Amino acid sequence: MCAIVGYVGHRPARDIVVNALRRMEYRGYDSSGVALLDGHGGLTVRRRAGRLANLEMALDETVGDVLAGSTGLGHTRWASHGRPTDRNAHPHRDASGKFAVVHNGIIENFASLRAQLEVAGVEFASDTDSEVAVHLVAQAYRSGATVGDFEGSVLSVLRRLEGHFTLVFAFADEPGTIVAARRSTPLVVGVGDGEMFIGSDVAAFIEYTREAVELGQDQAVVITADEYRIYDFAGNRADGHARPFYIDWDLSAAEKGGYDYFMLKEIAEQPSAVADTLLGHFDDNRIVLDEQRLSDQELREIDKVFVVACGTAYHSGLLAKYAIEHWTRLPVEVELASEFRYRDPVLDRSTLVIAISQSGETADTLEAVRHAKTQKAKVLAICNTNGSQIPREADAVLYTRAGPEIGVASTKTFLAQITASYLVGLALAQARGTKYPDEVAREYRELEAMPDQIERVLVGVDSVSALAKRFALSSAVLFVGRHVGYPVALEGALKLKELAYMHAEGFAAGELKHGPIALIEGDLPVIIVMPSPKSAVTLHAKLLSNIREIQARGAVTIVIAEEGDDTVAPYADHLIEIPAVSTLFQPLLAVIPMQVFAAGVAQARGYDVDKPRNLAKSVTVE
Ligand code: F6R
Repeated sequence: MCAIVGYVGHRPARDIVVNALRRMEYRGYDSSGVALLDGHGGLTVRRRAGRLANLEMALDETVGDVLAGSTGLGHTRWASHGRPTDRNAHPHRDASGKFAVVHNGIIENFASLRAQLEVAGVEFASDTDSEVAVHLVAQAYRSGATVGDFEGSVLSVLRRLEGHFTLVFAFADEPGTIVAARRSTPLVVGVGDGEMFIGSDVAAFIEYTREAVELGQDQAVVITADEYRIYDFAGNRADGHARPFYIDWDLSAAEKGGYDYFMLKEIAEQPSAVADTLLGHFDDNRIVLDEQRLSDQELREIDKVFVVACGTAYHSGLLAKYAIEHWTRLPVEVELASEFRYRDPVLDRSTLVIAISQSGETADTLEAVRHAKTQKAKVLAICNTNGSQIPREADAVLYTRAGPEIGVASTKTFLAQITASYLVGLALAQARGTKYPDEVAREYRELEAMPDQIERVLVGVDSVSALAKRFALSSAVLFVGRHVGYPVALEGALKLKELAYMHAEGFAAGELKHGPIALIEGDLPVIIVMPSPKSAVTLHAKLLSNIREIQARGAVTIVIAEEGDDTVAPYADHLIEIPAVSTLFQPLLAVIPMQVFAAGVAQARGYDVDKPRNLAKSVTVE
């Protein structure tokens, strides 16, 4: 949810920290702040509600050389405890102003800790849960077993905290040291030459080093300019349990590359997101999921599949259901991860739970995974973020290789998630023999051809941008589809809601007559996903009747239909054509005009497409 950064080295910490915050602002943008150590016992904090630009202004207004040191912390916030105000922005300090902390996550026992501190006379300067951590460290440093020991004080406090957190501490009297820790939220160390970095993700330091180390669960790290040391919370060295890795994407992948918004760049990157996700997964006429770690025997023993996910990832899960059931004849249930464990789902050793998550950090999905594991189900994660918590806890993982997605709204990762879950479906069909090898190969070949088809859709979407401008002032938009077009309609509506703050609903076309048709009135734009005329004939014919019903009530019909589908033209006030592909693959194309439409409406309304209000890229609270 929030982003944290820490730096110790030889460059001006202010520049490094602010740059890192700019790259990670997508993780939260309610407020931001920095703590900079001048190296002579001084610690200066600047923090501001609102976008990073407000903080930069505050830094520019600061006179003197208090911001000149080479150790610093930074934070951008997605508010959970306490309103997004200056006083609740991080970093927080103790009463002496010598200790500073930035925090991502939630300290669940903060209320009792705060009460204890208040009894001891500590005055709080914010409404956040985070502030308790810095007072506790200051208290531990001044008295008791860890007196005068900064690292020891932090470790002793970590043992008292409940919840999930990444915490990063600095101490003005030890300006060349930063102490950080994580439990269930991300923290990576960037290893430079004479400089060390801490970040919520590698975007914090990709400009300076591609050598990184990922911390394990309940680990702390101490960084100085020349080394990092990893501990468990009991204070034992734990360097062997951390995972060093090389970052194989470069700075340009995290930059806009000439587009006005990351989201627009990411929409354009969809052909390669799909192609890269497929890479290396078909060899010798077989689907190969080598990093998946589930044997063919285990795949054969599965008798039921659950897909758990949230938001856009949930919509990709709905599509996975159509493909997996069709190819394997296994029953598939798709469940919102936030609901899953509260209804006592029937799971056992022969259940496969597929958890889909771009970030690999979503708390709802992580808890669903944990619940599935307590019931002995096998868990396969489909994830875009290497080494994040969900794949770490799953039995197996299939990575989507969409690259970094910075725009808060998921686009290219949606297509990559569909692709990966189709690969899982084909692997299941292959292992279980529900499809002949040549049938599996044929489906794979069509999947492999999708990047070219996506490219063709992208070339033709200018007309959609024009439509977006035209309907930018509408009060609502409805999205309608049938079969695989239905999850696409849901996704189209979600994109418009989150980016354009416009009322939007997705409906199964057959449901309209059971209530929602009452919403239809003159000039209401309705976006309809038309199935291929070559799909089940009745499906196409039924949707045509649905469009007629919509049009008869005065709505404006915007129809996404296959090239050459002449039957639909008379009922489409606006026709958006996409290439003809098999039914299961159509969602990879049909969703693109909807993404472009949502971005276009948001732009026309003057909104920040990459950072919609109230949202953050990864949702680490339940
Ligand atoms: C919408 C969007 C969200 C995410 C959801 C799950 O555009 O991005 O709905 O899909 O928050 O996030 P991940 O995939 O990181 O688990």
